[in-house]
Amino acid sequence: MQNIIDTNKCLNVKKGEELEIVKKLILQRFKNKVPKALVRTYGCQQNFSDSEKIKGVLAELGFFFTGNEADADLILFNTCAIREHAEDRVFGNVGALKNIKMKNPSLIIALCGCMMEQEHIVKKIRTSFPFVDLVFGTHSISKIPELIYKILLKKQRVFENVVDEKVISEDLPVLRENKIKASVPIMYGCDNFCSYCVVPYVRGREKSREPSNILKEVSEIINSGYKEITLLGQNVNSYGKNLTQSINFSELLKRIDSIDGEYWIRFMTSHPKDASCDLIDTMATGKHICKHLHLPFQSGNNNILKKMNRHYTREKYLEIINYAKKKIPDISITSDVIVGFPGETYEEFCDTLSLIKEVGFSSLFTFIYSKREGTIAATLDDPIPYEEKSKWFSELLKVQTEIADNLYKNMIGKKERVLVEDKSSKDGIFIARTSGNIAVEIEDKNNLIGQFVDVLILDAKRSYLTGKIV
Ligand code: SAH
Ligand code: SF4
Ligand code: F3S
Repeated sequence: MQNIIDTNKCLNVKKGEELEIVKKLILQRFKNKVPKALVRTYGCQQNFSDSEKIKGVLAELGFFFTGNEADADLILFNTCAIREHAEDRVFGNVGALKNIKMKNPSLIIALCGCMMEQEHIVKKIRTSFPFVDLVFGTHSISKIPELIYKILLKKQRVFENVVDEKVISEDLPVLRENKIKASVPIMYGCDNFCSYCVVPYVRGREKSREPSNILKEVSEIINSGYKEITLLGQNVNSYGKNLTQSINFSELLKRIDSIDGEYWIRFMTSHPKDASCDLIDTMATGKHICKHLHLPFQSGNNNILKKMNRHYTREKYLEIINYAKKKIPDISITSDVIVGFPGETYEEFCDTLSLIKEVGFSSLFTFIYSKREGTIAATLDDPIPYEEKSKWFSELLKVQTEIADNLYKNMIGKKERVLVEDKSSKDGIFIARTSGNIAVEIEDKNNLIGQFVDVLILDAKRSYLTGKIV
């Protein structure tokens, strides 16, 4: 057989040689056919962005990609720990891989991402899922070649130790499948420790990227034809705090906005405690910055906000919203909200409903509280049964649906600039988005994907608009 590796020699390779040796080991393992990987991503945009790097690294190792589990030589799940439901889904899907592995014993099964940063989860994988070959956390993407090397060479399971890396790996290859919209992380981790949230435990301490690296990446993306860039971070408003040079998020936005080209900039997520008038002013004057603010409020009640450790009040939240509406009258505001935080009463929940009515969100991400091991909220009394919380949740959805319906109806007859993103499943229909991130269906015979066009809004459906090009 060709490409047989002398494994003893490989134990002492230099770093640069590693990639070539791993490539050969992979070919050897998969009998010299083109190796295929399946990468499935759960969770938020941060995880999707990490998966683009994971795919970049795997492509460098010679992997091609498949969507078919039976066809894959490596199956990797990039997992999310934000709610119990997210974890249950992953466990269900990992369990289903057992049969595939039995049919194809040379298959490598890998799990990474936020769930794998939790000790109790890794323990469960070790004992209950013996067919999983590799486990690594959110800080180990750059180590993938080394980890695969260990599996292939030592023929044993590899569990990478959790470390909160102080240095951001800037030189990782990125494989972006979408050719119109790109995400660019501007920071990693979170220092806020909202009492219900697992993210600071699984993503480590907050670290900002150097502005020069961000600007270089954004310029390259724009020059290669992308039309929309989303700047990512758990709390983009605290960008720059750990950097030696003095720069904040507004300043970064201004610098990016000054890059020539036809493109839009979005960003998420903003935290109300750090959202400043300066940020709104920058949005109002920016040439490329979308008129869309995603500002999670979580609860409309001050007692609950305090217990959530959110560091703002309902009044402070409404103050920034009102300032934004004054400066950018057509701004679209979206948010996240949690129903049924431990100890929340129905009266306190009603404050959430009243805040929703007062703001008029164009869409809301709504969640029923989920207990997360290791968080402060997990130690609090939670007397309201899930069934009762579900009723409150339905009440909230009803209120929000009515608000969004009215908001969408008020857009009929208006002219909007949209970016055409994709074809719809309906023949001759394209899906576009407004600057406020509202979906618009447009009918056209030409291929409009990747173009900015002006449309007249014709009708409002539930959760999208229809329009025609003008
Ligand atoms: N960093 C972002 C959000 C990250 S998580 C921010 O602070 O806004 C996305 C959303 O998941 C949160 O805004 C919150 O609404 C929800 N979430 C987080 N932990 C949760 C939990 N334990 N139960 C229910 N929802 C939760
Ligand atoms: Fe979680 Fe709060 Fe950090 Fe957002 S800001 S990731 S909700 S701890
Ligand atoms: Fe989930 Fe991790 Fe994002 S827990 S929401 S994938 S940061």
